[in-house]
Amino acid sequence: MTSQVGSPSEKLSAVTIHAPAKINLILRILDRRPDGYHNLWSIMHTVGLEDELLIKLAAPTGGIRLTCNAQTLAVDQSNLVYKAASAVLDRTQHSVGLDIELRKRIPMGAGLGGGSSDAAATIIGLNHLLQLGWSRDRMAEVGQSLGSDIPFFLFSPSAVVADRGEAVTPMTIEGRRWVLLVKPGFGVETKWAYQELAATRGAVRPLSAGHIELDQRKSISWPQLATAAENDFEPPVFGRHGLLREIKQTLQAQGAELALLSGSGSTVFGLFRDESTARHAQAQFARDKQLDVFFVSTCSGPLAVSFGSTV
Ligand code: C5P
Repeated sequence: MTSQVGSPSEKLSAVTIHAPAKINLILRILDRRPDGYHNLWSIMHTVGLEDELLIKLAAPTGGIRLTCNAQTLAVDQSNLVYKAASAVLDRTQHSVGLDIELRKRIPMGAGLGGGSSDAAATIIGLNHLLQLGWSRDRMAEVGQSLGSDIPFFLFSPSAVVADRGEAVTPMTIEGRRWVLLVKPGFGVETKWAYQELAATRGAVRPLSAGHIELDQRKSISWPQLATAAENDFEPPVFGRHGLLREIKQTLQAQGAELALLSGSGSTVFGLFRDESTARHAQAQFARDKQLDVFFVSTCSGPLAVSFGSTV
């Protein structure tokens, strides 16, 4: 539970931010750019599987200290949270130390954007803690320099994402859905997925007329999205990992309105209109101990910040 121990106008000493996972409801990978990245076009949505970040002000001599409950995640300067904190401090006059505690729940290498969400949460948290008054665009600019998926999280819960990931336009998706996230015991490396996609597809398929039409819209319904959903990473990633295709087929057979690979995987998600169908599907997957299964719903608001620390 979060506890409010101050208000934004008072001097803060700590903030807690909830950093949700994302799913890609549509993911088209377009042409390769001169900088080596790809232009993409995606509709993304946050879901209620969250990491949690506690950021506390400390003595300036302490620098940035990051701790994390996940043993496999480096907590040095290579960590995106560390990089984000350092990027914010570099752009301000504040001489402060930071103690940051990261509680991971979002699996890594899963196509759920956990690291990017943590970085976005760090920027938002420091904007509050240091009372920087930065706009979302300013925060997204800092995020963009650190990773392609980070700007989206500053405009969550749902948005159209284009170019390298930095062109983010919020889009309303009416209503909520239950979401089953099914992750096998392995991850997929994003860089490998891009290479495999380039090696296995013929030409780049341009955006369809339907997707171009969606690009102009401010809102969309879930049934409309379900008919427009696709992910360009499915053929190359399913080609290597047949289990992921089987998970998708099982989700469809269990009544998912939409089942799709998220990002470059390895998570496959199913969207459900009603809770009981989703719970039934969850029970089917729960029998397989090789799989991590998360039962959540789509988020209805932006990243949540509370003042003070959680207990
Ligand atoms: O930016 P991020 O670190 O998430 O990207 C990981 C890798 O995915 C990049 O090194 C690049 O190979 C590939 N990528 C890409 N085009 C994008 C995003 C990522 O080619 N728009």
